[in-house]
Amino acid sequence: MTRILLLHGPNLSQLGERDPEQYGSLSLSQLVDAATEAAGEAGADLDHAQYEREGELVARVHLARTDGTDAVVINPGAFTHYSYALRDALDILDIPKVEVHLSNVHARESFRHRSVVSAVCDGTIAGLGVDGYRAAISLAAARARA
Ligand code: DQA
Repeated sequence: MTRILLLHGPNLSQLGERDPEQYGSLSLSQLVDAATEAAGEAGADLDHAQYEREGELVARVHLARTDGTDAVVINPGAFTHYSYALRDALDILDIPKVEVHLSNVHARESFRHRSVVSAVCDGTIAGLGVDGYRAAISLAAARARA
């Protein structure tokens, strides 16, 4: 069975209450349920973790090198825009990696237009809400098996 790891960065624990116009009305656990269903349809198992702290997220990416993870889907939250530590951790993780954002970061404040992790991911999906997660998971599973 293909194992996909879904990772979330800071403040995504607040989904459902946080700025629903940008992020939709699903809570994090509802989003993870939808992602788990998408993984099942793609013939994959899903593990999930969310961290408020940069070092914990970096450590989980390191662990993915040896724990049998086949592909990563990551929404790093605000770390997207400035965390070189996360960027370097993803760089040394040699499996398919898909960056995903609920909101269309390119249509928002200029600080959100730049991602320091995009260059070390296979691709990025932004602005498609939960559908973007479904697509990211299906693509990550396909790439892990390719
Ligand atoms: C986000 C976009 C980021 O700019 C923001 O800091 C987030 C969520 C998104 O999913 O649209 O926390 O990654």
